Amino acid sequence: MNSLRADSQFHRHLILVNGLIPILWIGMDGWQGQLGANPVEFVTRATGILSLLFLLLTLAVTPLRHLFHWIWLIKQRRLLGLFSFCYAILHLLAYVGGDRGWQLLSIPADIIRRPFITVGMISLLFMVPLAITSTHAMIKRLGVKQWKILHRLVYIIAIGGVIHYALIVKSDFTYPFLFAIVLTFFLGYRLRLTS
Ligand code: HEM
Repeated sequence: MNSLRADSQFHRHLILVNGLIPILWIGMDGWQGQLGANPVEFVTRATGILSLLFLLLTLAVTPLRHLFHWIWLIKQRRLLGLFSFCYAILHLLAYVGGDRGWQLLSIPADIIRRPFITVGMISLLFMVPLAITSTHAMIKRLGVKQWKILHRLVYIIAIGGVIHYALIVKSDFTYPFLFAIVLTFFLGYRLRLTS
């Protein structure tokens, strides 16, 4: 029993450290003025990619658990999801501060004018109820069945994230395409489980 708890703590710390390294790295490079010619663009893009990456890692938990019997992963899913949400918030702040110059009133027009912003905003908005209901207390309060239904939103969020990415890219679609393939696999796996 104690060794199970120790394993769980170890995995948790492993994810915590690996989740925090990118932001610490970006912070240090920023401090030293080493974020390239366009630091705002760099931070916006890096946090966007990190958010999407953690989102896909969250979705990877179910197939990995079933295919390789990595039962321990289930306990770490919440942390992976929260990292995705935190990077999305940093991404939003980089956009509001860097792209919009903190002119909050210019955001609604931008949401209408640029479809990739519309899709990104919808994805981020959908993340909020999932983050709020990620605690054990909220699972109890909602009931496991309702909670599971609500948390299927994560697939819509991921589809939105990949579309958002694809709309930004102008010529080389390799990365959005790779993200789309991985997401299709996770989605297909989930649909097979529920059918
Ligand atoms: C409030 C919502 C959001 C806004 C306003 C927003 C805005 C932006 C902006 C301005 C860029 C940079 C575009 C460029 O450099 O031309 C970007 C890139 C990106 N965003 Fe978002 N985004 C939002 C939500 C999200 C979410 C929820 C995700 C992931 C789940 C995401 C993933 C990405 C990715 C992967 C990129 C491209 C990174 C790259 O070019 O390497 N975004 N976003």
